[in-house]
Amino acid sequence: MSGRARDLIIDTDPGADDVVALLLALASPEALNVLAITTVAGNVRLDKTSRNACLAREWAGRADVPVYAGADRPLQRAPIYAEDIHGEEGLPGLSVYAPEHGLAEGGAVEYLVWTLSRAAPHSITLAMLGPQTNLALALGQAPEIARGIREVIVMGGAQAMGGNITPAAEFNLHADPHAADVVLASGVKLVYLSLDVTHRMLTSEARFRQLAALGNRAGELVVAILEAYVATDMERYGLSGGPVHDACVIAYLLQPGMFRGRQVRMSIDCGEGPTLGQTRVADAGASALPANALWIEDGDAQAFFDLLCARLVRLD
Ligand code: RIB
Ligand code: CA
Repeated sequence: MSGRARDLIIDTDPGADDVVALLLALASPEALNVLAITTVAGNVRLDKTSRNACLAREWAGRADVPVYAGADRPLQRAPIYAEDIHGEEGLPGLSVYAPEHGLAEGGAVEYLVWTLSRAAPHSITLAMLGPQTNLALALGQAPEIARGIREVIVMGGAQAMGGNITPAAEFNLHADPHAADVVLASGVKLVYLSLDVTHRMLTSEARFRQLAALGNRAGELVVAILEAYVATDMERYGLSGGPVHDACVIAYLLQPGMFRGRQVRMSIDCGEGPTLGQTRVADAGASALPANALWIEDGDAQAFFDLLCARLVRLD
């Protein structure tokens, strides 16, 4: 790891895999300087995603990182949630309780505008782990904040895999396609980790044993969350293991070399109907239009779990 830690804001809708992503990021301070966590409605309602973000911060022993609550609904479409996958409280496999430390004063959108408008050019990275509503609202209020953004790493979309909330669309983009389109149109540097790659980074019995062998609370929490979370995807797709979608975004930031992608020209379907939120992806060379995203399509699953374990073992 060369140079100083990367300044990072994590926007998230915890959510089982979001919690794993937060633990991985907060356990890697030498590489990631997490400036703040911003929450959004998505897997569950905003009050619960915000509480869950505060709990994940507590489990990582990082009360120094502020949590700002953001949008409680999408830009335009009716809200949707994923309680059937993430449970009513958004923390499958765990009993929830009130976190020791609560939310920071002020809203996520205001925090994003204030921080990014004062940031050095292209200095702050955003990890988008849920619907992109907060960033879209901030860009709408102050388009000039794009100047402060180094790159935006998104968990979202699907091409080869097909959708997971509808046959055409992945949840984060289906939940707020208009927000994803605002971010895409802003011209910020985008890296997409879609279902195409997250469905290749799967749990297994051996990897669950690897996590359980950590012998700490963080390992126990992740095993409990993932054992409850992955069952639905494994059954739905007939997979041998389950994806840990959002943690792939953090792994990409920590070790991009474990992934492979290609420059693409992508668009997002914002029209009402069966393909709402669908990502349309063309190889950059095949499009008359310039590339607007790096589309990650494969990764080294064992390296991912080795990294996850190597960082979780640092926590209590
Ligand atoms: O489709 C998977 C994505 O939707 C993940 O970010 C998961 O947490 C849900 O938000
Ligand atoms: Ca998420």
